[in-house]
Amino acid sequence: MKVGIMGGTGNIGEGLARRICIGGKYDVMIGSRDPAKAEIAAQGVVDALAERGVKGTTCTGGANADCCDSDLIILSLPFDKIESTIESIGKDKFENKTIISLINPMLRYPKDKYFLHDRPPEESAALAIQKLLPESAKLTTGFNNVAAGKWMLLDEELDYSVVVCGDDKESKNAVKDLVSTVSKLQPLDGGPLKTSGIVESITPLVITLAMNNGLKDVGVYFR
Ligand SMILES: NC(=O)c1ccc[n+]([C@@H]2O[C@H](COP(=O)([O-])OP(=O)(O)OC[C@H]3O[C@@H](n4cnc5c(N)ncnc54)[C@H](OP(=O)(O)O)[C@@H]3O)[C@@H](O)[C@H]2O)c1
Repeated sequence: MKVGIMGGTGNIGEGLARRICIGGKYDVMIGSRDPAKAEIAAQGVVDALAERGVKGTTCTGGANADCCDSDLIILSLPFDKIESTIESIGKDKFENKTIISLINPMLRYPKDKYFLHDRPPEESAALAIQKLLPESAKLTTGFNNVAAGKWMLLDEELDYSVVVCGDDKESKNAVKDLVSTVSKLQPLDGGPLKTSGIVESITPLVITLAMNNGLKDVGVYFR
């Protein structure tokens, strides 16, 4: 199985790539607007795997469009770059694909120590992105509430819940399988994509709590 991460060179993308490869079940393709940049990021993952003696999975780099050859595609881009990215790749490339959005649009007020969900008219980024994709594409949420900080600290466990919302049972199960290979992440079925706005809105709350209470790596675990 292969996972393609569009925007995989970013704050969260590189950590995601490392953790997914270390999980031992999925190869990863890091995508970028600049394939050379993605190749450098992928080499970093390969080196990290070698250092830890992980065999059986690998990471490569390429253009964002190359991620469409993967079994699962993660959109790890700022929300306002999604439309142009999908347009430049071509909507058809996403036909029948299972796609994961970890995107949380936010309004940031760091001086006043609070962040808000920048809710699009469609109610969530995921629902807005669904409109940009072909009808056959199966979009889910995933990894939205796990902060970037700990993804790269490979000796630390990620002990959080990951809510997977989506309208297609099979693709939700595929995403839950992926989540469960990463550290101690607990995948949970969050219902249809209609609930994705709730999931996205947890992240600004998490950041606000961290800022106002001197907490680090705040996350959610539902039990
Ligand atoms: N950071 C977190 O803690 C966190 C946690 C959970 C969810 N998220 C969500 O994850 C997503 C990615 O977050 P991030 O912090 O990793 O973002 P980021 O580092 O700012 O950006 C990710 C990648 O987006 C690409 N990019 C930048 N400008 C672009 C443009 N104009 N057109 C196309 N691609 C562009 C860049 O890749 P190239 O230059 O290589 O093309 C960059 O490496 C966001 O939507 C965020 O809401 C973030």
